[in-house]
Amino acid sequence: MDNNNIIYMDHAATTPVDTDVLAAMMPFFTEYYGNPSAIHSVGSFAKTAVENARETVANVINAQTQEIIFTSGGTESDNAALLGAALSRPKRKHILTTPIEHHAVLNPLHYLEEFGWEVEMLPVSHDGLVNSEDVKNRLRDNTLLVSVMHGNNEVGTLQPIGEIGAACRDAGILFHTDAVQTFGKVPIDVRAMKIDLLSISAHKLYGPKGIGALYVRRGVPLTPHMLGGGQESGRRSGTLNVPGIVGLGKAAELAQQLMPGESKRLNELANCLVEEIESRLQGVHLSGSQMSRVPGNVHLCIEGLEGEPILLALDAAGICASAGSACSAGSTEPSHVLKSMGVSRDLARGAIRITMGRKTTIEDVMKTANVLIQAVTDLRKL
Ligand SMILES: Cc1ncc(COP(=O)(O)O)c(C=O)c1O
Repeated sequence: MDNNNIIYMDHAATTPVDTDVLAAMMPFFTEYYGNPSAIHSVGSFAKTAVENARETVANVINAQTQEIIFTSGGTESDNAALLGAALSRPKRKHILTTPIEHHAVLNPLHYLEEFGWEVEMLPVSHDGLVNSEDVKNRLRDNTLLVSVMHGNNEVGTLQPIGEIGAACRDAGILFHTDAVQTFGKVPIDVRAMKIDLLSISAHKLYGPKGIGALYVRRGVPLTPHMLGGGQESGRRSGTLNVPGIVGLGKAAELAQQLMPGESKRLNELANCLVEEIESRLQGVHLSGSQMSRVPGNVHLCIEGLEGEPILLALDAAGICASAGSACSAGSTEPSHVLKSMGVSRDLARGAIRITMGRKTTIEDVMKTANVLIQAVTDLRKL
């Protein structure tokens, strides 16, 4: 594979590790390899690096350093938040969530259902938006928590998490948000947005795979999900992945610096792609909210076609895009997200997700538009 000629349009699935991030990580494999729990100098050097990274991650979301726990990624953070909250308040048997969550949220919640928890799905609009009034109206005396993702990984819709957080805090109910697609891309302030638990993953942010973090607001009870040597103040046992943590810290620092310029640039590129496609192709539906979306996400449903042959045509031209979430790729079932938003089964089969990143240029966008339009035109003739 010649990577130089690839136009990578799948940044919601994962991103390349930034060269500065890699450079920051490298010495922690071979030179500063100490265990941060050790009291000698090699260990304490690693510990300092871990604490610096914790501070950087905390700063990005206006949290305190002791409120950040390092995990192995978004999936673990979601599991830790949901299972940990349930175990710490086992009498509260009602959970509110949305049908458009990632499976890293839906599956632990289905697991809890097997043990007697009731999981209620909030309605979502055709744009994939949750209404905070619906959250308020459904809270009960025995509600354990509300889990609503910040940015959807397929259609890109951003939820009004500040309003949902306020509704939960007023009622004294915990609020968890999966911010895997938004951390470092969209401003987040856990204090102002009244968030109690928030999931982060480094590999969506030009950091390495297999490292993430969970923000746990001070005072929020959370039973640990991983037991062992008592690392992370007993909240997540296991020897810390120091190079990964350093990488996450560096990735968070860079993302925070670049966020204002990048989000504007990516929004402009996404608008450009949509305008080009919509002006030259009939029967194309843009999914998700038009107003409130993850920068650089374009999700389309193409009438009368399946997504797969279009993706293969793009791939043949060196353009990597996806049908939706990486996890459901290869599955013949239309996405649960589109289904929940009321998109018909037939239309959902023609789903294409194009997600741009730091290296995406206007030339990449125009080439993607041209190849996609040609592929759809050719396939429709068959
Ligand atoms: C919204 C969302 N939550 C959770 C995850 C899982 O994160 P990780 O791959 O770090 O386990 C993903 C990854 O695709 C995601 O998009």
